[in-house]
Amino acid sequence: MDEPLRKMSRALRRALRPAGSAPKASGHRARQQMSTWTQVDRYPFIFRAMGDVHCETTDLRILSFGCSTGEEIQSLDAHYFTGARIDGVDIDEAALIAARSKAYTNNDVEIFDFDAFANGSETYDLIFAMSVLCKWPTTKGISDISDIYPFSAFAETTTLLHARLAPRGHLVIFNANYRFEDTEAFAADCEVVPVMFEEEQFVHKFAPDGKRLVDESAGVVFFRRLS
Ligand SMILES: C[S@@+](CC[C@H](N)C(=O)[O-])C[C@H]1O[C@@H](n2cnc3c(N)ncnc32)[C@H](O)[C@@H]1O
Repeated sequence: MDEPLRKMSRALRRALRPAGSAPKASGHRARQQMSTWTQVDRYPFIFRAMGDVHCETTDLRILSFGCSTGEEIQSLDAHYFTGARIDGVDIDEAALIAARSKAYTNNDVEIFDFDAFANGSETYDLIFAMSVLCKWPTTKGISDISDIYPFSAFAETTTLLHARLAPRGHLVIFNANYRFEDTEAFAADCEVVPVMFEEEQFVHKFAPDGKRLVDESAGVVFFRRLS
């Protein structure tokens, strides 16, 4: 599809899609991970697994939440998905400029800042929140993070992501300080999806009271919204 046609069809899809009832996140608490470090093809097993799960989904809508400088979107675009729509969201101005300057050739890509995203209503079949719902290395070796990164901030952002997940859509949360399984959003209508992958999560996990969990293996990665 050529570029003007692609833009028109995208605008039409947006206009026809029913508005979600996304809760808004308060700006001052929204930023979580401060580092913008990323790399091309950082999670190949996870990306491939989700590519397989969604290989037959038509008009696939993907969100890279915390896309940083765009390498995550480039990887999804170049290796794992074609003919999908991929939106990227970040909160860091310099990262957004870099992400917007990258070339994406196989998919329809748009990059939004956090506020534009939080005020939108678009829903997604697949949301990646990779190494964003954490404060690392600030929380490294700390036994109680309730002051520096309260569970409420994590819950607020994951509630927003959950509201933007289409029915039967997948949410992938990797390297987070808290467990999505502990949130009300998860309890509302989500299930854990058992998927094998080889990437290792290194960010410490904490209970909702901010205390470090002894079982570091706790905290799964793949979730599906049921309704
Ligand atoms: C370490 S990078 C991760 C990049 C990529 N997802 C990856 O895993 O390689 C974390 C990114 O999350 C962004 N970030 C932090 N809080 C955010 C928020 N509330 N909304 C969107 N992006 C956020 C940061 O600006 C940063 O670019």
